[in-house]
Parts: sequence; C-alpha cells; structure tokens
Amino acid sequence: MNSFDKLIIKGKKKLFGEVNISGAKNSALPLMAASILINNDYELNNVPNLLDTKIMIKLLKSLGVKTQVSKGNIKFLSPPLIHVAPEKLVNTMRASILILAPLLQSRKHAVVPLPGGCAIGTRPIDLHIDVVKKLGANIELRDGFLSAKLPEVGFRGCQIKFPKVSVGATECAIMASVLAQGTTELINAAREPEIVDLGNCMIKAGAKISGLGESKIIIEGVQKLNPTTFSVIPDRIEAGSFAIAASITGGEVNIKEIRYSDLETFLNKLKLTGTKVIYGQNEVKIIGSNKLKSVNISTEPHPGFPTDLQAQFMSLMCLADGKSIINENIFENRFQHVPELKKMGARIMVVNNTASVMGLESLKGANVKATDLRASMSLIIAALAAEGITNVFELEHLKRGYENIEDKLSNLGAEIS
Ligand code: EPZ
Repeated sequence: MNSFDKLIIKGKKKLFGEVNISGAKNSALPLMAASILINNDYELNNVPNLLDTKIMIKLLKSLGVKTQVSKGNIKFLSPPLIHVAPEKLVNTMRASILILAPLLQSRKHAVVPLPGGCAIGTRPIDLHIDVVKKLGANIELRDGFLSAKLPEVGFRGCQIKFPKVSVGATECAIMASVLAQGTTELINAAREPEIVDLGNCMIKAGAKISGLGESKIIIEGVQKLNPTTFSVIPDRIEAGSFAIAASITGGEVNIKEIRYSDLETFLNKLKLTGTKVIYGQNEVKIIGSNKLKSVNISTEPHPGFPTDLQAQFMSLMCLADGKSIINENIFENRFQHVPELKKMGARIMVVNNTASVMGLESLKGANVKATDLRASMSLIIAALAAEGITNVFELEHLKRGYENIEDKLSNLGAEIS
C-alpha cells in the first residue's frame, strides 16, 4: 500500500447482511511472540492476515525462528538462534517489544531497539522494563537500544504490582514467568480478553496459571512448555467497528464469531443510542435506528469501554441527537481523528482528554487522512453515513489492523473502492 492509495466511499448506503469477524490482532501478536517459549511444533490457527502479523513473522524469522505460513495458520518449527532484534522491523511495529521476555528466557540475552512513539502517544515501555528487571534481568539502555541479560538459571518468580494497568506489560510478565523458577504473582494486572487468550494457550502447553481475566494472576513456573495448537479468539474491536457501521447507516447486520462477554460494556452503550442489539449464539444482530441518541463514554481498561473503539463511537455520536461527552483515559493523544471529522462538518470541541460532540443531521463527504489504525476506521464509518463522496488517504494505518475491510464492507452494500 503506498501513501497514494485511497478509499473512495459514497455515503448514505444502509449496510445489510452478514460479516465474519477475523482473528484478533492483539491476541495473535503476543501468541506469536510466545512461539519463542515453545521451542517447536507450536501451531496457531485463525491468525488474521494483516501488516502487523506479517511484521511479527518477519521479526521472528530474523531471530532464526523457522515458520510455515499458510493462510490463517502458522506453524513455528524451531527456537530462535539470534538475540538481536533488527531495528528496522521493531521501529515499524511497537508490539515488537513483546518478544523481549520470551527472547530473554530463550537466549538469556536480548537486544531490542527502543520502539518509537506513535500517533496516539509516547507509548513508553518502562513497565515492561520493570517486569523483566524484577524477575531477574540486568538491563542496559544504550543509544536507543535496550540490552538485557539473564543469569543462566533464567527468570526467578516474585510479586509484581503494576502502578497502572498495562496490556503489554501484563503479557510480558506472563511470558517471563511461565518458565521461571518459582511462583510469580501479578497485582493490578490487565484483564483484556487477549490476555486471557495468551494465558489459555500457555496453560494448554503445560503452564500453571490462575486468575486470568482478574486483576490478580498467579503463575507457577514449570520446566518446559509442550508442543501445542491454538486458535486465536475473534477480534472484538473489528466486531465493534462493524456494529457501529451498521448502526450509523441505519442498516441491519449480523456479526458472526463475536463473544458477547468481550464487548458487554460497549454493546450496552450502543443500545443506549437507540440501536437494537440482538444476541445469538456467538453472533450479534445490529439494527440501526434512524434517530440516534447521544451517549457519554469514558474509556477504561477491560471490562470498561475499550479505547480502541473510542474513535469509531465518536463518529456515531456526530450524528446523534444532542451533545455527548467522550473521555479518553488510556492514551494521552487519541483524538487525532477529530480534525478529520471536522472536515466532514462534525462539531467537536476537545479540552485535554475530553471531547464534546454536538450531534448533527448529517455529515458531508470530504478528503480526509487517517492518522492511526482506529482513526482510519472512524473516518470510514463517518464516510458511510455522510452525504456524497469521501476520499480517505494514508491507508497504511488501516492495513495494520483490518483484514479485507473493503470486501467485507462492499459485501454489506457499502459503495467503497
Ligand atoms: C495494547 O497496547 C493494544 N495493542 C492497543 O491496541 C490498545 O489500545 C491498548 O493495549 C489498550 O487496550 C496491542 O495489544 C498490540 P497498554 P499496549 O500497555 O499494550 C501506558 C490498536 O489499535 N504504558 O495497556 O501498548 C501507555 O502509554 C492498539 O490495536 C506505560 O506508561 O497498551 C498507555 O497510556 C492501539 N508504560 C497505557 O499505559 C508502559 O511500559 C496503557 O497502555 C506501557 C504502557
């Protein structure tokens, strides 16, 4: 995808039909990093075909891990031979930091370039560094590189209290402690479904973990992890994005492979807008109403309202009746989509981490540019409901996190190319 690519969307088309949700990007990435812990015969199914998962495969290959990729299935056949992660790859994807703990466990040494920030904030990794330090690693930060060493005995279990909830740091701690000497106790751990997925995969491979999905997780180190095959959970953020697209266009869409408990808070908020949400077995039918009510949201760690659906929900509120207040409490700069939505006529005022949205009768198509992955989806959602044509530029962000988005949307009746 070069930056001249764009999506052309003709708005005011109701979406109808059925969409199958792909595997969760934010579950697949840590599960792929965990391949370093399971030396061979580790197989993942339902892996989404995204820019980010392709980068993770390249990263693992650059460390010497042999893989066999066929569509949504990846076989990991050998442990890493190298402990230095290539700068180019790490700088293109922040989630590369997830290889730190597994690489340390496997090679007792890891050199990882410090990942850069991104559009939504500085994205520090201090909590990851604290985790591996507490579990026994010696860390050196030298001209943009993180060099970590472990004693031959590997990680040693201990209690880790997180000063703030962090998805990545919790995943780092789980991967660092499954093969550690002794027991590790995580306090104030993140509770996201993707963390439960990672933990369930480790347990299937022989790890001893209790409390997954709670804020206290206990991991008892074992000698080794056994060959295992695991299937990635469906992507709740993709599911939520399609639910909002159905709602804003006043359509009727059946979203399959969605786990209600992963999106309970979000779906309850969506219902408050007047959108009908009908639960089936592993699927949810969304029926948009022609009169949207304004609803306030505050993003929180799971099980609260997910920050990854904030931008998409803001697009919906641009067409709601009245004023809605949107608080972004997770990232310090996650309103990049606001200036672009304003080009479409949206009335939004941002003060610090709070956006006030004044609902309108309609939005107008415009030339807009995506700034980050979820902002891309919020602009597409707004374009689906806007009058006229919208051109969405800078699509490389979109390709990171949504598999076949154009096909999925046009199959639902959207005029998109
Ligand atoms: C994961 O990022 C997701 N990415 C993000 O999804 C998601 O938005 C985020 O969790 C919150 O749910 C992946 O899983 C690959 P955090 P992560 O550590 O782990 C601060 C998307 O669109 N923090 O929970 O980086 C951090 O700056 C992406 O798919 C530190 O201060 O999120 C943020 O303000 C975007 N120090 C807060 O904690 C650290 O060492 C929560 O971050 C780490 C994080």
